[in-house]
Amino acid sequence: MSKTYNIAVIGGDGTGPEVVAEGIKVLNTASARFGFKLDYHFYDYGGDRYLRTGEVLPQGAADDLRKYHAIYLGAIGHPDVKPGILEKGILLRLRFELDQYINLRPVKLFPGVECPLKDKGPEHIDFVVVRENTEGLYAGAGGVLKKGTPDEVAIQESINTRKGVERCIRYAFEYCKKRNKGNKLTLCGKTNVLTYAFDLWERAFYEVAKEYPMIKPDYAHVDATTMWFVKNPEWFDVIVTDNMFGDIITDLGAMIQGGMGIAAGGNINPEGVSMFEPIGGSAPKYTRQNIINPLAAICAGGMMLECLGESTAGNVIEKAAMEVTSKHLKSLAAGKMGYSTTEVGDLAAKYVTEIKE
Ligand code: IPM
Ligand code: MN
Repeated sequence: MSKTYNIAVIGGDGTGPEVVAEGIKVLNTASARFGFKLDYHFYDYGGDRYLRTGEVLPQGAADDLRKYHAIYLGAIGHPDVKPGILEKGILLRLRFELDQYINLRPVKLFPGVECPLKDKGPEHIDFVVVRENTEGLYAGAGGVLKKGTPDEVAIQESINTRKGVERCIRYAFEYCKKRNKGNKLTLCGKTNVLTYAFDLWERAFYEVAKEYPMIKPDYAHVDATTMWFVKNPEWFDVIVTDNMFGDIITDLGAMIQGGMGIAAGGNINPEGVSMFEPIGGSAPKYTRQNIINPLAAICAGGMMLECLGESTAGNVIEKAAMEVTSKHLKSLAAGKMGYSTTEVGDLAAKYVTEIKE
């Protein structure tokens, strides 16, 4: 009997549902070829629902989502909703409540994709950022005093627990070992200024490193990391970092891999349910024009299969996306691909049926 995976789908806002539809098209092609089943359940969480009902997520949403094998997310962010409400109320809340403590963001330049860095090609840009996803500045610790007065005080604290930091670091070492490419793990921090938080990170990092003699532990300050991303991206294999630094450096990472149209990520709870998403946002101005690039969502679908244990299928989806970039797309940008959203989905699906494992 073939295996069935139950997938919760949150198309979300803007172009989210369109790119997710193409992702599902490609996922279904892969499941047909590799002999497993995907059973989708659709949720309408997002800005429209919030504007209609006044509710961001219903009671018990996270518990409900916990029942699935994985969650496939389009994008969250609506032009008529004040910034922060949906991001915190849906995306961050699900990351926290489902304890998705890893945000895994591969930065890989696909063949045929124009890179903004001079003289850099696919052989130079292929690394993975492991971002801590439940702590740091995102934990929401702090407060405000005397708001709106000249004496206003605003405090936003970074929470770093030994447990939270260590489990993230362990995941990164394991990932680096399994990847077996550069066998180098770089801790990206700021030990010269953030001497409490990154002292904890650094000690945990070098302690865990002793258990992985095959991995070279490496360290870079976050500011220097951004410099190396541009100057020598080939120096990186796997990077582990805190929530805020990870947020920032992965946007830069997305740019050097060709843009938001291709950048995929996973919010991972290795012991629970994980959520996969294109990291680019809802791009509301392109909604329903059939011009947005679905490749990031398609690649996020590939990562989801990998995480479900269907690595061959996941891998084939990534290779199919590479065929699309190298043989077809003029650009990754919305409206400039030379193909529509649905045509890109069709092409990727076609290569999923044709490509060698
Ligand atoms: C991301 C996004 C989110 C983040 C926002 C939308 C809350 O930028 O996934 O990187 O800051 O984590
Ligand atoms: Mn971000």
